[in-house]
Formats: sequence, C-alpha cells, structure tokens
Amino acid sequence: MCGIIGYIGKKQALPILVNGLRRLEYRGYDSAGVAISDGKKVARVRAMGKIDELANKLKPMTISGTVGIAHTRWATHGGVSEDNAHPHAACTDDLVIVHNGIIENYRELKDKFLKGHELKSQTDTEILAHLIEIFYKGNLTEAVRAALKEVRGTYGLVAMHSAEPDKLVAARLGSPLVIGVGDDEYFLASDTSPMLAHTKEVVFLDDGEIAEITPAGFKISNLNSKSVDKVSSKIDWDEASAQKQGFPHFMLKEIFDQPAVFMDAIRGRYNLAEGTAHLGGLNMTIEQMHKIRRVILLACGTASYASLVGKYAMERLAGIPTEVDVASEFRYRDPIIDHHTLVFGISQSGETADTLAALREAKRKGAYVRGIVNVIGSTMARETDGGTYMHAGPELAVASTKAYTNMLAVLILYAIQFGRLNRLTEATGERLIAALLEIPEKMKEVLALNDGIKKIAMKYKDSAGMLFLGRGVNYPVALEGSHKLKEISYIHSEAYPAGEMKHGANALLGPNFPVLAIITKNQLYEKMRSNVEEVKARYSPLILVATVGDESVSELADDIIYVPPTMELLEPLLNTIALQLFAYHSAVALGRDVDRPRNLAKSVTVE
Ligand code: G6P
Repeated sequence: MCGIIGYIGKKQALPILVNGLRRLEYRGYDSAGVAISDGKKVARVRAMGKIDELANKLKPMTISGTVGIAHTRWATHGGVSEDNAHPHAACTDDLVIVHNGIIENYRELKDKFLKGHELKSQTDTEILAHLIEIFYKGNLTEAVRAALKEVRGTYGLVAMHSAEPDKLVAARLGSPLVIGVGDDEYFLASDTSPMLAHTKEVVFLDDGEIAEITPAGFKISNLNSKSVDKVSSKIDWDEASAQKQGFPHFMLKEIFDQPAVFMDAIRGRYNLAEGTAHLGGLNMTIEQMHKIRRVILLACGTASYASLVGKYAMERLAGIPTEVDVASEFRYRDPIIDHHTLVFGISQSGETADTLAALREAKRKGAYVRGIVNVIGSTMARETDGGTYMHAGPELAVASTKAYTNMLAVLILYAIQFGRLNRLTEATGERLIAALLEIPEKMKEVLALNDGIKKIAMKYKDSAGMLFLGRGVNYPVALEGSHKLKEISYIHSEAYPAGEMKHGANALLGPNFPVLAIITKNQLYEKMRSNVEEVKARYSPLILVATVGDESVSELADDIIYVPPTMELLEPLLNTIALQLFAYHSAVALGRDVDRPRNLAKSVTVE
C-alpha cells in the first residue's frame, strides 16, 4: 500500500526520491508527491496517477535541495485527488509530512485542536500535520512527539520543517519504517526496496519509536523521550534481483526465478542421509516439539493457499492436526488455543496487518508463535519468537508467485522435521528430500512450456468465467490458480474440490464455461478422472494439467499442459507454476496492468 521515501545528505534529493518512488510502485498506489527543502523554503509537488505524471509535472521546474520526503498514496480517507495526495502541509508548506496508516481519532483531534485551521484535503494525515504545527515551538522532534501522544491509530510518518532544514523526523506505530545508513547520507523508507541502490545497511524502527535524522547521524527515542539504542542490519538482497532483467513484467521474471530461489529456501536445511530437515529458527526443544498437539497456519491471500498445502503435508507426514485460518477471520473469532498449539504466520511481506494482529492474538492466548516470512527484518520476523525466512528475494509484482513456492518449500520442510519426530520413516524422509532436490530441474521443464501455455491462455481469454478443479493436495493448487487468474486478468473464476461439483457447481457447466482441472498421477487420479468425465459430458471446454506420458487423458481434453511427475505432496510446486503462467498470459492478452492490478496492493498494512 502507501509507500514512503525520504532523503537527507549531500546529494540532490529530487532524483533520489523520484527513483525511490518508482521502486515503491509495486506496493500499489493512486497518486504520488514529493517535498524538498532548499534550506529556506519547501517546494511541494503532487500528482494523481502514475509516477510518470509526477515526473512530467516536475520536469519544467527547478527544484533543488538535499533534504526531502516523497510518498505513493493508496486512498483510504478521501478519494483520489491531488489535494489528498501526500506530502501534506499544515497551514503553510513550512511543515510537511508523509504518513502511512490510519489516524482513528482524526475527527476528535480536529474538533479539539484545529479551530481556525483551514483544511485542504479530506485526509486524516492533514489533520496530523496541523496537530504537529500546533505543538511546534522550534523543535520538530518534540512537536511530533507531543502530537503523537494525542493520536490513536497507526502511523509510519516522516516530517520536515523549513525552519530546521537539516532534519527529518520519523515515527512508527504499526506501519513499517526503515532507516538506510549511507556515507554522510540517510534514507527513510517504508521498505528496503527504494534504498537498495544506495545502501544495504539499515536500521528498523520499532513501534513507539521516533527518529531524528540529520546529515551527521540519527537519534532514536520513544514517546516518553527515553533514548533507544539500535543496531543496524545488513540486507543481502541486491539491486539486480529487484530489476526486471529483460522480462516484460516483474511477474514473469519472478515466475522464472523459481528454480533458483527454491534452492535458496531449502539449502542447508535438510539432511538427505537421515531423511530429515532442520529449521533452526523454530527455537523449540525436542521436548517442546513432542508436546505440540495442534498446528495453526495463519495467512491471507496466496499465503493462505500455500498454507493449505502445508496442512496436507503436516497432517500426512507428522500426523499433527493442522488448521489453516484466514487471518482476518481468526483474529475476531475468539479462537481456541492452548500451550500445546504451534501457530505459524505465513507472509511474503511480513507486514500484513490482519496476519500480524492474528499472531498477536495467538501469542496472548499462550501459543508458540513463529513466522514464515520473506522480507528480512519485517514486523512479523521481529515480533515472532522464531521462524524461517523463505529467501525468495524481492518480490515486486502484486500477485505472489515465487514467494508462494518458497512458502511451500518451508512448510514441507517443517512437516518433514516434525514428521521425523514421530511417524515419518527415515526412508520416506530421504525419498522426500531427494524429490525436493529434483524440483528445480522439473520447474525448468514446466517453465519451458511457457509458449504452449500462452497459446492456451489466448484461446480462453475472452471467457466470462472459469472453474478450477483439483482434489487432495491439488485442491489448494486449484484455489491458487483461480486466485491468480482473477487477481491479474479480472476474469471471474472459482475453484472447487472436484468431488464437490455435483453439489452445486455442475449447474454452471456448458460450452461457454471452460474448466481447468489438475489430473496428475497420484492416489486420487481415478477419482479425478470420473469428475473430469462428468465435466466433459456437460460440454464444458476442458484444459487439463496432466502428468507427462499420460496419453489416456488426451481424449477428454481440449487442451493439455503436461507437467513432470514428482511425489504427490510436492506436486503443487510444479502444477502451480503452470497455472501462474496461464494467469499471466491471460492478463497480458487482455492488456491488463499485470504487475499492478487494479484495486490491489502488494503489502496490505491496514485492516
Ligand atoms: C495482498 C497481496 C497478495 C498476498 C496477500 C498476503 O492481498 O495482493 O498477493 O497474497 O496480500 O500478503 P503477505 O505479504 O502476507 O503474503
């Protein structure tokens, strides 16, 4: 969602900020803006739409200055307009702020403090800017601190004042902020992507902290003025991995990244000879692990479909009852949890507000709470008592692909690790690990089908709707395939467990309603085949994802995508890639904004 970038140093701030905004585009936004101080006054420029609109507006202007803040906005309070775009100013442009999050008591604050202040936008952020102005007595840090004591809600904010041109003040509560440490220069951003080109040394702000940054250094304190010592971390993501590298879209590049980054997820975490896995970040003793009676996987969106595969793996390999809960439901359900429950939050960004809140609820109730996270240093990584990075590298397309497969990799490793404590034999563990090690080559075989899948996507792109079918471990694959298609192509689609069709969805079947069914060779193959025959009998066009060599299904299919065989539990690692490519090419054929689908954001930091 909204993105923040700030700069203070010796270089001209404008190009750094505009490039930084481009790196934040992937989060989703509807307007953008920048404010720069030249040491005397602040210049503020905003525009609706893409960063290019802002860049075009800036082109004829001469804006110089080595301190500035910029923002991509995703509308929450107030519609999409230039007035509502950030940076927001108080009564004059002398005091400007950018803000992510929601000020819940903005109406009360307005009534209590803002008499005589003229508001120019419908945003909660502008009220915060005026509030800081009211408390300003020559020290911006203290004004921000005083204002925030009045605020209820969430914020990641950066403020700047023309009277103190060598200072940026940042504060965080519930919305991430990172300081990038360069040579005599500092960056501030809502995630590390806009600063990777400049520095890999970062300091993550925690909730309740305020940072005062000057070209000479930074000081961090809390709302009660107590100073806080922080250590910096090194980010090992490189700038190149956050580029398209010749691919037309980030999504396609990220789909093709999968064989390589899959190995990053499993490397050093398995023991082939002993048929087991070891994820040290779990931070549990063998005794504690033995006492786990239930596992709960909490996630949103694609991560929740990856979690469903995790449930199959955990139950089948480790025999531990495992539930998957969509985080937004779990947090309000008064869930039943005890000290023998292990809860995992699964999240690419590690910042999804609902997942974070659900994990906090689980922690309050006494569960072991761990994270399976991609973004290094994200809130979830820091708030959980352990867990595992999925090491997918920067994922910038809104629709998740490589993070999904790496979530599966980590969940399967956890299932093997727990399984080896009880019912999983060394021989089966070894077979699983050996099969996991073959996955990257097999992924490449699926990726080689790209052109064929594109042709199939072109054929069905004008369908009004589609159905995805699977059984067993391929039911979550159908859910994810359907999710991908609707996210980026806007074609309505649903996923069904194939055995459930006769209880409702059969009524939809007919010549204008294509069905994509996953019918790979596993223990449910025969069952799936009967379901597919029923679909065929009702004249729906059929696209099948089948196992290489299975000629017998060709008589049923209008189109076939043949994927290599693997062990049943690992099939989602291959089958999903075929569906990712299908969704991608459908969206491209329809002229969609593949990397930034309408109304969706990469990182959903509000409820
Ligand atoms: C958003 C994104 C999805 C993602 C979901 C969960 O809705 O558009 O692609 O699956 O959030 O995100 P997380 O970062 O928690 O995995």
